Amino acid sequence: MKKNTMMAFGLAISFVVAQALAEQTPPAQILGVAAAGKTKSEACGGCHGADGNPAAPVFPKLAGQHSSYLTKQLRVFRSQKRGDQTVMNAMAESLTDQDIADISAWFASNKLKPEPAEKNELGQKIFRTGIPAKAVPACAACHGPKGEGNPSSVYPVLGGQYSSYIAKTLHDYKSGERSHEIMQAVASRLSDDEINAAADYASGMQ
Ligand code: HEC
Ligand code: HEC
Repeated sequence: MKKNTMMAFGLAISFVVAQALAEQTPPAQILGVAAAGKTKSEACGGCHGADGNPAAPVFPKLAGQHSSYLTKQLRVFRSQKRGDQTVMNAMAESLTDQDIADISAWFASNKLKPEPAEKNELGQKIFRTGIPAKAVPACAACHGPKGEGNPSSVYPVLGGQYSSYIAKTLHDYKSGERSHEIMQAVASRLSDDEINAAADYASGMQ
């Protein structure tokens, strides 16, 4: 009896660990060629800008984002699993793994145009130390002290991204529109004011 309980416990733990690993394992590495990606991404430029710096904040910046993260998101769009993203799901539908690797290499190789720094005390506090009372972890723990992310862990760059897009994304995680175990847990604990503060501060990081 005792042994069975132990085994069930062990299985439950390894399941959780496997889940966590699956979420963190970067997509299979296919070497992307930026020059090929430039040609293949002509259809993307109208919204995201030819180099991944869009003209308007309705579209997220892709320039300078980690190719591992771009690859992951394009695969999620292709499998129609990022919420109600009709446009992006359609854009990614016919991309091959090689197209995705090339396009990701292209945008990752371009320089992100920074946003003006934001003196937001609440945002800075959330970013650097989290909100311990609400079990909100420091964003910097994963997204880096300058919002530079981490390519091998597939943590995206936040510094320089439009504040409105960062806030929208956090709302999407909070509502479950966009799914991701860690980020849904983080965003669900943030109020609207905290989301806006963290977004403003993160956007201004360089
Ligand atoms: C008609 C406009 C439009 C076109 C064309 C378009 N996108 Fe997008 N894209 C969007 C919008 C809007 C979003 C934000 C979706 C959201 O709010 O979650 C987005 C999001 C993304 C993201 C996620 C960024 C992030 O930080 O999570 C990636 C990657 C992306 N697009 C790549 C591409 C690529 C590659 C192409 C060309 C094959 C492309 N897009 C074409 C509008 C467009
Ligand atoms: C334990 C690690 C971890 C912590 C802590 C964390 N994040 Fe994230 N964050 C991630 C991962 C992983 C992703 C990619 C999720 C996905 O694939 O959708 C992400 C994605 C995001 C995105 C989407 C970016 C984009 O371009 O679409 C935003 C915005 C974000 N996080 C903001 C925050 C903020 C603000 C905090 C602090 C309150 C925070 N994160 C704390 C790991 C973390």
